[in-house]
Amino acid sequence: MASPAQDLARWIPRLLAVWRAGRKGARGGPKPPPDRLAPDELKDVARAVERLSKGLTRDRELAGARYMDEQHLLGAYLLFYWPTSYLQARGTLSELPHRPGAVLDLGSGPGPVAFAAWDAGASSVTACDRSAPALATARALAAAAHVPLTTKEWNPTRGRPLSELGTGRGFDTVAFGHVVNELFQGEGAPERRAALLQEAAGLLRPGGSVLVIEPALRDTSRHLLEVRDLVVERGFAVRAPCLFRGPCPARGKESDWCHAERAIEPPPLVAEIARAAGLRREAVKMSYLALAPPGEPWAEPPPVRPGAKLFRVVSEPLPSKGRLRYMGCGPEGRLGLALQEKHLQEGSRAFERLLRGDVVEVTAVEPSGDGLKLGPESEVRVVAGAGEPATRPPPRASSGTARS
Ligand SMILES: C[S@@+](CC[C@H](N)C(=O)[O-])C[C@H]1O[C@@H](n2cnc3c(N)ncnc32)[C@H](O)[C@@H]1O
Repeated sequence: MASPAQDLARWIPRLLAVWRAGRKGARGGPKPPPDRLAPDELKDVARAVERLSKGLTRDRELAGARYMDEQHLLGAYLLFYWPTSYLQARGTLSELPHRPGAVLDLGSGPGPVAFAAWDAGASSVTACDRSAPALATARALAAAAHVPLTTKEWNPTRGRPLSELGTGRGFDTVAFGHVVNELFQGEGAPERRAALLQEAAGLLRPGGSVLVIEPALRDTSRHLLEVRDLVVERGFAVRAPCLFRGPCPARGKESDWCHAERAIEPPPLVAEIARAAGLRREAVKMSYLALAPPGEPWAEPPPVRPGAKLFRVVSEPLPSKGRLRYMGCGPEGRLGLALQEKHLQEGSRAFERLLRGDVVEVTAVEPSGDGLKLGPESEVRVVAGAGEPATRPPPRASSGTARS
């Protein structure tokens, strides 16, 4: 089976062909390569990517604006952000306890989440957005890749309930890729976003999930955690990344937030645009939630040895003089986990190489400061690597939706 990166490589010429077909003004000169940009093309795209990056991640002026309706910004999104969203979606879909099945991609833009779901084995994909040009681009990509994509125009801020989309209640996965933070800005936004997730959950078959992917920015991540707590209060269970029931411990401290990070080798097209736009792209970062609707049980965390404690690593390594430290989040709360290098033993070697997102079992820890310290007797075992399902799925009520 091809890896997500290999699958993505097959999309790059399609993205470029669709982008070139929609670009105004024929270019002269030799035919550009199918998987890279010609210098004049790169210059235009890099300029538009800089604008998108500033508007979506820095001053946030574009969040909720109609940037997908502007051809040059849609084009820049397609060539630079689409591949990242694709990998993020693959990385989060892989944590679901079920195959994607029938997928509804809300706020789809040109469809990276829908196509990622298709490549991950979805049985059907439906993409919805308020931007007609973004949906037309998704259809052009679907035609190029022979994916039977359905598209629908959708705008939840106009007060149109999801049920009016006419899609029915037949989805296994309802996904929101980088759109929740763009909806319902201002006062009351968390409640309205939570209500939208509840409505989306109403479209699921038993055992299905609502998947939310958001930018890895402190503010958008904290807003997502607020929505998380609202839906958990209303009976939702979190399938990933949380390993426990109850409110999110990161919300207690303004400076805390939660995001995942996976190292990637960016496709050459993305790397060259990043270089030209002065941006970095060596890792895929996102905040995310996989939610089970009210009535579905919380999945069981993996069993641990008696006396052992379970954590998800929620920081990068935080080395200091002679000591290794990470932040961990689990049933014990959100705590620092520290080990003196001189106490590293065969059984704790894994501590040297933990990645953000890994789920680990640690033994023989004791309280130290506001965290826990491991000692010479401690053992460290990675129970699930970053991006792998960490919880044991509750039994599925329906099956038979997987594509053969
Ligand atoms: C950052 S893009 C995300 C695209 C894609 N889902 C991804 O993950 O890359 C946000 C998308 O949300 C859509 N969007 C923003 N506000 C919307 C609204 N009120 N109704 C429907 N779609 C909206 C935009 O048109 C855009 O396609």
